[in-house]
Amino acid sequence: MNAPETNSATPYGTLPANATPSVRKPVSLPRLLEMHSRGEKITMLTAYDATFAAVADAAGVECILVGDSLGMVCQGLSSTVGVSLETMRYHVESVMRGLLRAQATAWLIGDLSFGTYHESKEQALRSAAVLMQAGAHMVKLEGGGWTAETVEFLVRRGIPVCAHLGLTPQTVHSLGGYRVQGKSLEAATSLKQHAHELQDAGAALLVLEMVPAALAAELTLELKHCPTIGIGAGKDTAGQVLVLHDMLGLNLGKMPKFVRNFMTGAPGVKEAMQAYVAAVKNGTFPDNAQHAW
Ligand code: KIV
Repeated sequence: MNAPETNSATPYGTLPANATPSVRKPVSLPRLLEMHSRGEKITMLTAYDATFAAVADAAGVECILVGDSLGMVCQGLSSTVGVSLETMRYHVESVMRGLLRAQATAWLIGDLSFGTYHESKEQALRSAAVLMQAGAHMVKLEGGGWTAETVEFLVRRGIPVCAHLGLTPQTVHSLGGYRVQGKSLEAATSLKQHAHELQDAGAALLVLEMVPAALAAELTLELKHCPTIGIGAGKDTAGQVLVLHDMLGLNLGKMPKFVRNFMTGAPGVKEAMQAYVAAVKNGTFPDNAQHAW
């Protein structure tokens, strides 16, 4: 008699009955914290579609971010401000399907886009629910100060949150451009205060974008429960993130100084991603002399 067909649960849902379950362990928040306490660097890449997400997972990337940078790299917008929640939902769901089909193990983060969490904690909850129901394991939101209350509200309701400080692209118009943040003593002190408030509110990861390497290193040591993920923040953060297209050498504008083109010398996209993972893990990317402030 044939064994009954059972479905296997994965972090993205249920596999078809005839699929072979993955032997790799799914990435989880405790695992990311444990990696950080052991000193193993966390790798994160953006992905916006099923195929690239599956390839990134196969290359060993632990966290896939469906970033609202998709507004610039996929939709051709000049900033992330014009990205809607529906667009984010569409891309999170596409990535989730790719990861499910590939029996992937990556942790999936969805960006809350501009204007979808600013009005009230309740609005943030409704928006986060849309991305979580599309398959995200965690949502990311930008900014410090006023966001701490929102983070606590979401975390208390079982929604893991990744915070984002430094250059926060959704506020590019207030910041006066894509420039390094936290350079003056006053700005660094305020950024540090916001980071601690976000950790206390329950944020489980913190993206630090375009901040001086020394400030990011200091914060990484201080925040014991909230691993920092740097982008243009030097090599001493708990992990690194890059925009997928940038690290593949594709950019419609000027390539930021903190990016390395991992396609150089790689026979294909998967190998470029593997080179990124290896370079982050062994501490050769980023290089503070070349990619940091
Ligand atoms: O939207 C995005 O891709 C991001 C990363 C740059 C961290 O927020």
